[in-house]
Amino acid sequence: MRSGRGSLTARLTAACRHMGDADPYAARFVGPGLRPILPLARRLDGPLNALTLGLVHAVRARHAWIDAQLQRAVGQGARQVVLLGAGFDSRPWRLPLGGVPVFTCDHPDTAAARRAAAHGLPPRSVDVPVDFARADFAQALLDAGFAPDRPAVFVWEGVSMYLSPAAVAQTFARVRALSGGGGWLLFDAWCSTPSPLRAGLERVGMRGLGWLGEPMGWTPTIAAVQAAVEGAGLTLAAHLSARAVAGAGRAHAGLRLFEAVAPALTR
Ligand SMILES: C[S@@+](CC[C@H](N)C(=O)[O-])C[C@H]1O[C@@H](n2cnc3c(N)ncnc32)[C@H](O)[C@@H]1O
Repeated sequence: MRSGRGSLTARLTAACRHMGDADPYAARFVGPGLRPILPLARRLDGPLNALTLGLVHAVRARHAWIDAQLQRAVGQGARQVVLLGAGFDSRPWRLPLGGVPVFTCDHPDTAAARRAAAHGLPPRSVDVPVDFARADFAQALLDAGFAPDRPAVFVWEGVSMYLSPAAVAQTFARVRALSGGGGWLLFDAWCSTPSPLRAGLERVGMRGLGWLGEPMGWTPTIAAVQAAVEGAGLTLAAHLSARAVAGAGRAHAGLRLFEAVAPALTR
């Protein structure tokens, strides 16, 4: 995390969405550094996707899949939405979420950049600035008005890969502790690849992310994801590769999408 400017990877994921016409709000969130190159990036979507081994399309497939699951969960009774590590996620403006309260939780630097870039848009979410590495996001959410006895859907998109295994386990446990009313957790993980050549190229990419200030920390097997989810008292309900999402284009197959569910404890 680069101090003072907010997350660069969050700006890059917004740029990926803009390049694929997947988010009409994304251009305002990419920031002045990336905005001038957006027209060129749109024209080079295919080559940039190839250069990143399918990451551009995987980021968009992930977002589309989570859009659909999030709306389904709200239709099935979720009464609160939490965007954990929200970055520049425009869902509070872009998706019809039936008026349920949305909490956007992110590092104070990124939260401040998000607020500045959202200037002029109607307020649609409760801003919860918190550094996950230093403070308990569960307490921050409770302080902001989150009700643990009401069913909630948590979106944790594009974050797990930057954390240590212990921080991932702690996140699952906190989500469980906040889900007394039952709920859903939609998240993704960068799962290890069986091909040695691709694994080597990916290591180079991961080192690049480290140079950008957001090094990779968790690249589990699917079995390890399942064990971590179940260790926290959640149930793994679904998982698929980003490449399997309809319209995913040439998405990297290593990015995997997961849905975990929490049974209600209080009803
Ligand atoms: C790759 S971005 C994903 C953003 C957004 N969910 C998306 O998919 O576009 C990772 C996000 O995790 C947040 N993050 C990273 N480390 C954090 C920390 N220690 N505390 C709070 N948020 C953090 C960053 O600020 C950033 O918004």
